[in-house]
Amino acid sequence: MSHLIAPSILSADFGNLARDIEMVNKSEADWIHVDVMDGVFVPNISFGFPVLNAIKKTAKKPLDVHLMIVQPERYIEQFKNAGASVLTVHFEACTHLHRTIHHIRSLGMKAGVALNPHSPVHPLDEIISDVDLVLIMSVNPGFGGQKFIENTYNKIKKLAHLIKIKKSSALIEVDGGVDTVNAKKLLACGADVLVAGNSVFGAKKPEKVIRELKNMEK
Ligand code: DX5
Ligand code: ZN
Repeated sequence: MSHLIAPSILSADFGNLARDIEMVNKSEADWIHVDVMDGVFVPNISFGFPVLNAIKKTAKKPLDVHLMIVQPERYIEQFKNAGASVLTVHFEACTHLHRTIHHIRSLGMKAGVALNPHSPVHPLDEIISDVDLVLIMSVNPGFGGQKFIENTYNKIKKLAHLIKIKKSSALIEVDGGVDTVNAKKLLACGADVLVAGNSVFGAKKPEKVIRELKNMEK
């Protein structure tokens, strides 16, 4: 499978959200990454259902929703109704992760689990066969435009090994500080999905950056 590109709407111009989503629609991007932050799990608040519903109206690509919220299990149906195709919850925010993952899948969404930079890969041993995706945070969650954490490469390799020995089909998604410079190495380590916010929306020609990321050779 060729790798996937998911531009993060957090770095879009919210005054011109429909225009920026149209750009992603026309681009070579595969998914639209949507960051929901509650001001409790992370020290920032992004947006909620009214904005998601607006995104859904314009978006022609699957919505890859990343929940940086406590107790995400309370809102799973609502995110399904708001148009999520992929729903990712944080490992650190879920007491009953197995139940939450299966609830997400039972509604027909792909289920993802995200790991903060400090969280090791091995606690996923017993859940890796149940998830469709693991999102490795390559910055501390909460803000776009942060510096990429170099240890991410090792973590991707460890996760790729776990996926292999457990015969899981989980995709490896990397989120935070991804750009056209580090993308090649991330893919070589085993990344399947690259999220990119600032490097796309901060560029003069965002579609060109998406194309470069999509056509990056391993
Ligand atoms: C950070 C979010 C990311 C963010 C990535 O907490 O989860 O998805 O939008 O933005 P960049 O690519 O600018 O680091
Ligand atoms: Zn994200």
